[in-house]
This record gives sequence, C-alpha cells and structure tokens, in this order.
Amino acid sequence: MADMEEKVRAHYNAEGLIDRIKGALAATGSGDAKVTPDQLAGFDQFHTRGLPATLALAEATRLVTGELVLDLGCGLGGPARVLADRFGVSVVGIDLSAPFIEAGDYLTGRCGLEDVVSLAVGDATNPQVADASFDAVFLQHVAMNIADRAGLYAAIHRVLKPGGRFASYDVVRGEGDLHFPVPWSREPETSHLLNPAETVAAIAAAGFEIDLDRDDTGTVMEWFAQVTAAGGPPPGPSLALVIGADFPLVTGNLARNLREGRAGIRTIVARKS
Ligand SMILES: C[S@@+](CC[C@H](N)C(=O)[O-])C[C@H]1O[C@@H](n2cnc3c(N)ncnc32)[C@H](O)[C@@H]1O
Repeated sequence: MADMEEKVRAHYNAEGLIDRIKGALAATGSGDAKVTPDQLAGFDQFHTRGLPATLALAEATRLVTGELVLDLGCGLGGPARVLADRFGVSVVGIDLSAPFIEAGDYLTGRCGLEDVVSLAVGDATNPQVADASFDAVFLQHVAMNIADRAGLYAAIHRVLKPGGRFASYDVVRGEGDLHFPVPWSREPETSHLLNPAETVAAIAAAGFEIDLDRDDTGTVMEWFAQVTAAGGPPPGPSLALVIGADFPLVTGNLARNLREGRAGIRTIVARKS
C-alpha cells in the first residue's frame, strides 16, 4: 500500500514546477502582480474540461457562501481557489504530491486567497482532519489512482457533517484494456478504475444517498474534439507545464480511451445520510 502510494507520488513529482510556473506567468506579462484564479485555469485545473467542469460540479453540489469544503487530491489547488473565489466558501486541499502543494501555496498567494484556501500534503484515504467537520468534499480526477475505494469513501463520509455533500468527477472503467500512458498513470499497476455501477455501489456502501449520477463522457469527448480542431489548448500556459513533454501523448491516449469506450467520465453527487 505504502509502495503504491510512493509510485503515485512519483508519477506526480513535478521537478522544478514552481520555477516553470513563475517563468510562464512572467511570459504572460503578469510579472509578480496579483492574478485571478481564472487566469491560472489553463494549467491549474488538472482534469478534463478544466474550469467549466469545476464550475459545473460546484453548481451541482449547490455550494452556499460560508461553507467549508475539503478538496481531496487537490493538485495545484486550482479548483480550491475557484470555489473560494466564485462561491464564497473556505477550502482545505489535501494532496499526496509535495511539489504540487508547494506550487499551490505559491499560486494561492499570487491570488491573495490565503485566508480562505489552505493546502497540505496528505493521503485522501486518511485525511488528517476532524470528523463531521466539512459541508462538502470534492474529488476531481483522483479516485482513478486509489485502489482502496472503500477506505476512500469511508474517509469522506467520516469528515462530512450530517447532510454534507460528496461531489465526484472522475474517470470510470469501460470495456477493454486502456491504452497507456494516461495522465494519471504510466502503467496498469497504478490505475484503479471501477465501472460506473461499481463506483456508485462503493459510494452507497459507505453510507451515502446518491443525488446525481451523470455520464459526462460525451461532453468530454466533444471538448477534446474542439481542442483538437483548434490545434491544441488556447494560448498561454497549459497543463503541458505540469505534465511535461508527454502531454500530447497522455491526453491523446485518454481521448482515444474515451472514444473507444475503454473509459468514461462520471459526475456523482451524494449526500451523507
Ligand atoms: C489529475 S490530478 C487532479 C488534481 C485536482 N483534483 C484537479 O482537478 O485539479 C490527480 C491528483 O490526485 C492526487 N492523488 C492521487 N492519489 C492520492 C491520494 N491517495 N491522496 C491524495 N492525493 C492523491 C495526485 O497527487 C494528483 O495531484
């Protein structure tokens, strides 16, 4: 288990990330000036469909100003900053990757959101936070790295207040083997997809009622087609900054896996009963 965690951590070990981010922001002309979370969305929303997906998940979760949100597997903290900025919530983000948290802290400072966003290194299956302390938990494109789904969903249930919402936007298994490498893994050993029915069953088994279970595969395939037709991501820093030289290969494989029905994208919102 610890070995598996180490392999996932190594996969997301972005050497020199802060310097690359500083250089990329300087190249956009923002120098050391304050930036908005939206300006960072090209590279700090580390999931399919980027910023629109985070906003859609927040709408589906019906976030209310003043609520406390936990973002598990928060990456660089992009979703956490957008939730705080647009929905008036406070967000705690937890991620296995120390370089991501370090870069995330830097970006939170650049946005001036330190009072409402705090990020820490930790394991989503054992978050070091109090029981029944959060109004909502977000999990975007993270579960596919986690073998212990029962442990993950039980931990989410533990940290939510009664009636709290769990919002998941993740990759699910389809039919047939995946083409590797994909953005979350170079090989099958660190990819842990469940199919949609298994995912819903595992969430329900942890004590949740399912409010929404939506197949977003078609929407994401359309998005990939639009990006391809446009000749790649819009100008400015993109996720290539984080993923590195393999960016076209891993995202191309993900798009192909979706087109061939080997994987899907699912939004699930559940409630702690
Ligand atoms: C594809 S990124 C998504 C990041 C973020 N949720 C977003 O949408 O921008 C997956 C993230 O999950 C994190 N992760 C994977 N397994 C984890 C675990 N067991 N505990 C905490 N974070 C984990 C990785 O370090 C990585 O930052």
